[in-house]
Amino acid sequence: MQRAVTIVEVGPRDGLQNIRQQVPTQVKLQLIDRLHDAGLRNIELTSFVSPKAVPQLKDGHEILSSPSIRSMLQNDSLRLPVLVPNLNGAKTAVRCGAKHLAVFVSASEGFSKANTNCTVKEGLERAKLAAREAKFQGLEVRGYVSCIFSDPFDGPTPPEAVLIVVQKLMEMGCYEVSLGDTLGVGSPANVQRLIAFLANNDIPLHKLAGHFHDTYGQALANVWEAHRCGLRIFDSSVAGLGGCPFAPGAQGNVATEDLVYMFETAGISTGINLQKLMTIGDWISRSLSRKTASRAGAALAVK
Ligand code: HMG
Ligand code: MG
Repeated sequence: MQRAVTIVEVGPRDGLQNIRQQVPTQVKLQLIDRLHDAGLRNIELTSFVSPKAVPQLKDGHEILSSPSIRSMLQNDSLRLPVLVPNLNGAKTAVRCGAKHLAVFVSASEGFSKANTNCTVKEGLERAKLAAREAKFQGLEVRGYVSCIFSDPFDGPTPPEAVLIVVQKLMEMGCYEVSLGDTLGVGSPANVQRLIAFLANNDIPLHKLAGHFHDTYGQALANVWEAHRCGLRIFDSSVAGLGGCPFAPGAQGNVATEDLVYMFETAGISTGINLQKLMTIGDWISRSLSRKTASRAGAALAVK
């Protein structure tokens, strides 16, 4: 079986950023370590954003300076991005030894203001400065465009607005751009239309990733549809953790366990050990005193 899809695990960042109770740094480190052991080769480690905006991830320095992460960062076959909103964050990431950076820009004004206190144009300028610094220092850069279908304040997002942000992020040299359904409102029909629109406007599909939140229970179907339309990179979070403090009502990311189960049963290799992954989902859910949002994880845990 060929490795046909790449899964980008965003649990340690997206998965934890919206959790109120402070998760001990040691638990975060164990989470990253175990995900790596389960076969994940792309793991978003944390973010360097204002600690007032996202207090949960204020221990980013400690995460990157821990011996286990330092050793993982020396492994060239791994991609371990840290998310940053501006040049300040990019400089911190460089200082802390990150090798990959992720920048993010909203396609819509309301979420841009709520999430990063700036307009879309200013967000693009900040991302450009962060990406330029990162590349100058030898880091690789990933991009996100948020609110691809709808914005919590402005309503539906025009596809043209998504296209502009995707194009700009690619011009900045992002090795891939992740399409973020931040609110988790999209369905397969929306996914098909947006991907067709981007493809018709010369966006190379092999450089796009899907990042689907699961508010309306459509995330797994969205991944399948995006795969059918040609995408091969998908973001997900173990146990379906996730959400953004500035996107009211949004639920977690599609669960990594569900994604792995779906692809592997279709003969599409992910390179990930589902049994180990299920154990991690079970452990992290217990550690956070919550029920897993992964249906496959829950089913396998009682077997
Ligand atoms: P601001 O208040 O306009 O900025 O916030 P500021 O420049 O005035 O700075 C405010 C304070 O933050 C200052 O500290 C800065 O030093 C500090 P003070 O003087 O008050 O003590 N600061 C920083 N600290 C650490 N790291 C930094 C940094 N930058 C400034 N990089 C700002 C603007 C962008 C900083 C703020 O709004 C922010 O940090 N926003 C991030 C919000 C966030 O992390 N959201 C979640 C991630 S995005 C997401 O989840 C979507 C995604 O998953 C895809 C999808 O689902 O669609 C990626
Ligand atoms: Mg997200």
